[in-house]
Amino acid sequence: MFWAEVEAPLIAQARRPGQFIILSIDSDGSERIPLTIAGVHSERGTIELIWQRVGKTTAELARLQAGDAIANIAGPLGEPTHIERFGTVVCVGGGIGNAPLLPIATALKQVGNRVVSILGARDKSRLILEDRFAEVSDELIVCTDDGSYARKALVTEPLQEVCQRDPKPNQAFVIGPTPMMKFCCQVTRRFDVPTQVSLNTIMVDGTGMCGGCRVEVDGAAKFVCVDGPEFDGHKVNFDLMIKRLNAYKKQEQQAYDQYRQHRCQIGL
Ligand code: FAD
Ligand code: FES
Ligand code: MG
Repeated sequence: MFWAEVEAPLIAQARRPGQFIILSIDSDGSERIPLTIAGVHSERGTIELIWQRVGKTTAELARLQAGDAIANIAGPLGEPTHIERFGTVVCVGGGIGNAPLLPIATALKQVGNRVVSILGARDKSRLILEDRFAEVSDELIVCTDDGSYARKALVTEPLQEVCQRDPKPNQAFVIGPTPMMKFCCQVTRRFDVPTQVSLNTIMVDGTGMCGGCRVEVDGAAKFVCVDGPEFDGHKVNFDLMIKRLNAYKKQEQQAYDQYRQHRCQIGL
């Protein structure tokens, strides 16, 4: 996991929980990628970005040093999270999904909700932000898929237990890998707990014009960049979304392989 504090005073001033930016590292036509605004320091005019290195652009970003510049950052984009005093909320984060979930859990706590957080990761080394969730949660449940830390379970297991409580949670927020959000929504649907998910589709322009981020919600086409990124998880067609997310896997792998080979050849 990588972290950066980026000087962007206008974005820091306008940003609300749930929103994201789209950046391109160089001005020579480099790829545009969306990242959530994980935190903000208004007094310094900076925003926090937290990312996982999964391919070419996130690897390039990870190579930047303190003091380097990012050519373009557009934001804040997307609709902010609807924050209100629901009562008890359960916040479920998986992997890098904990980063976009943190500002939401923080805002929910600030308006007086009882926050139960469930954090999951494949193994101990991939678990992020546990300490920061501990600060904003009334109850924190941590699990790893392989049992290398805390409870050995998928997040759906503790989520089901929390939903079985009397009273059940009033609202759920789930952010993580798409299959994880799909299965969490199957659990909360059984208990009739309203559930917001934040969708991580492929994005290009971020303005609703290219169609790259199209998803199906309640049978209608929606654009995650302008209509989302959050939607009612019980209405999202996750299977279609997963299919669209995998559409460019071959080209993405090729770009990453070429990038790594190039770096290797110039001895970096
Ligand atoms: P690639 O090898 O090009 O792609 C790896 C995978 O990333 C792809 O299979 C696809 O699923 C996804 N992806 C690729 N290109 C894009 C693109 N242009 N837009 C969106 N997804 C893409 N990741 C984080 O680590 N931290 C965050 O805070 C975060 N916030 C996000 C917020 C939103 C609203 C969205 C839509 C995505 C967010 N992501 C976040 C995912 C992040 O954008 C991708 O991991 C990144 O674009 C991958 O780029 P790459 O070139 O390194 O990898
Ligand atoms: Fe182009 Fe949403 S990113 S329409
Ligand atoms: Mg890429």
